[in-house]
Amino acid sequence: MFNFDVFDLFDEVVILLEGVKIKEKNKIAEKYGISENVDIFSAFTFDNIDKLVEHIFDGKDLRVQTRVYFFQISKSRDVDLLYNNSSKLLIIKDITDVKKLKEAKINFTTAVSHELFNPLSVIKANVYLLLDGKENMEFALEEIEKSTERIERIIKQLKTLSMLELGLYTPRYNEIDIEKVLKEVIDELNLKIKEKMISIEKQIIQKYFKADSFLIFTILKNLVSNAVKYSHKMSTVKIKTFENKIIVEDNGIGIKKEELEKVTERFYRTKDAIKMAQGSGLGLSVVKHICSICGYKLNIESDYMIGTKVIVDLNT
Ligand SMILES: Nc1ncnc2c1ncn2[C@@H]1O[C@H](COP(=O)(O)OP(=O)(O)O)[C@@H](O)[C@H]1O
Ligand SMILES: [Mg+2]
Repeated sequence: MFNFDVFDLFDEVVILLEGVKIKEKNKIAEKYGISENVDIFSAFTFDNIDKLVEHIFDGKDLRVQTRVYFFQISKSRDVDLLYNNSSKLLIIKDITDVKKLKEAKINFTTAVSHELFNPLSVIKANVYLLLDGKENMEFALEEIEKSTERIERIIKQLKTLSMLELGLYTPRYNEIDIEKVLKEVIDELNLKIKEKMISIEKQIIQKYFKADSFLIFTILKNLVSNAVKYSHKMSTVKIKTFENKIIVEDNGIGIKKEELEKVTERFYRTKDAIKMAQGSGLGLSVVKHICSICGYKLNIESDYMIGTKVIVDLNT
């Protein structure tokens, strides 16, 4: 006879049965509220639990994928359930997260291919028109350029996003000079800022932050870029730092109340924003993701047609 304790090393729930009674269970089983010396019926249930009971009494193996409800923790989980008759072991593998990830992957792939397909169609159509000599050359090339830039933007943001999501980026917390980071951000956005004659008003009350400089750069670049992009010509964008908070404020087009929650979703862009400027619709979802990794609070306040204020609170 083997030592049952060895199953404490397993990630799956392992239960030794005597009829329908739980004789022994491994450590992970406790996470599901499973205890010893009770019937399986008081530990969990699922559609077709009869089938399992039948197999136990008939001395047959069983393998099913199903959704199981665990009574003690009041939760349902998707599992791979395996009954092995010769050892009388019941093994339950939780595949809820795997299933969720699979669904998320499918949704994501659909969204990405859809978003990339649109600019690609524009490019293709204009190339055909040019080949046919039917289109005004300058107009067609401008359309192609705009679409190429959109594809480039989407790919760049996706790279950051997937790197963060896959956990390939581990934040490194150092003392950073926020003025220096801000200067880099403004340098990168300078062309747009000049073109729209936006003045940037900085109020750096807190100069040093303990944070990851790449992540703060990414947050600031997205927020300042939005503030500039969705502001009217000759207006002011305010950037303020104090009490471990970074605030970016503008007097631009604002966001309608009913759309406020959606703007951090991937690819979501308001109708007014689409009319006003180009974008990937990914910037705020990147910001949101960084905040969730670092434990920062992200707060977006906006009045439609009046302006927007984004607050990143680094207090954790
Ligand atoms: N400062 C802002 N003022 C008004 N609308 C904004 C602002 N920032 C973000 N938004 C809205 O949120 C949407 C999503 O923002 P974002 O993810 O950065 O995508 P993008 O800027 O590429 O459109 C924008 O399309 C816009 O509708
Ligand atoms: Mg943006």
